[in-house]
Amino acid sequence: MTIMTVGVLGCGLMGSGIAQVSAQSGYRTIVREVEDSLLKKGLGRIDKFLSDGVARGKVTQQTRDTTLGNLQGTTSFDDLAGCDLIVEAIVENVEAKKAAYAALDALVGEKTIFCSNTSSLCITELGAATRRPDRFAGLHFFSPVPLMKLVEVTRALMTSDQTYQTVFEFGRSLGKEPITAPDRPGFIVNRLLVPYLLDAIRAYENGFGTIEDIDKGMKLGCGHPMGPFALLDFVGLDTTYFIANIMFDEFREPAYAPPPLLKRMVLAGRLGRKSGRGFYEYQ
Ligand code: CAA
Repeated sequence: MTIMTVGVLGCGLMGSGIAQVSAQSGYRTIVREVEDSLLKKGLGRIDKFLSDGVARGKVTQQTRDTTLGNLQGTTSFDDLAGCDLIVEAIVENVEAKKAAYAALDALVGEKTIFCSNTSSLCITELGAATRRPDRFAGLHFFSPVPLMKLVEVTRALMTSDQTYQTVFEFGRSLGKEPITAPDRPGFIVNRLLVPYLLDAIRAYENGFGTIEDIDKGMKLGCGHPMGPFALLDFVGLDTTYFIANIMFDEFREPAYAPPPLLKRMVLAGRLGRKSGRGFYEYQ
């Protein structure tokens, strides 16, 4: 199946990155947000990333202009009617996702493929809520989307071979390296990353070291680009808490149980970079 026009639902951190790489890869891309102010913020993020890229000599002026030219923002579902493939990257709430799929199901063509960028929800459950379970798959990107090379492709029980192959190739056409991940909470990467991040919090709670020393240890001792606390702040403590709870509900293994400090930081609104304070403080 040939993909020409791509829809992206949500223009937050992930949605804007997905829309950017899609437009940058030559697809006509329509990104939908629920309201104008959020759309403007998301499109502004894309413009800034591309302009910074030009300033760094990583992106040409022409690529920037072509990418922005391929991109259209909207607050209406109707504008996504002509899309061949739609990537949903909205809030991690099953009911909100089901409502969005229902609105789109009624508008788009028979062959249109739906993908979810969920990091932890069940792909089979989401696909089953649509009128196209055989044309539904998981396509999980990593933050910051324009820089991280990986996408995880997940089949639901009902995903057809053709859909899986089309989505896999679509991921590759975005300049990403796709891997096949199972329909289990956390897929492959978060299956390994989340217990590591939770364990770093437990190590800190148990007095193994300061936040700065634990981060330094993993950066300089293991060559990680960020230590676990910088990464927790980057991903968002609420996001990590949410994923950990879903993984714990599914697997019932202590490794996925959120440590008490994580819960309290989320309750206190210390969510990381996005709230100005997490394990570190941000301007
Ligand atoms: N346009 C083009 N290129 C850009 C750019 C831009 N606007 N901004 C930065 N770059 C390039 C830089 O030129 C640089 O390229 P080179 O390596 O070729 O020099 C590279 O991107 C890195 O940029 P910086 O030097 O400015 O930044 P950094 O070295 O501090 O790296 C980072 C930043 C890429 C975020 C790095 O810290 C990193 O990889 N962190 C880990 C991120 C991670 O683990 N993400 C996954 C989170 S988990 C997730 O997302 C899934 C989930 O479900 C929760």
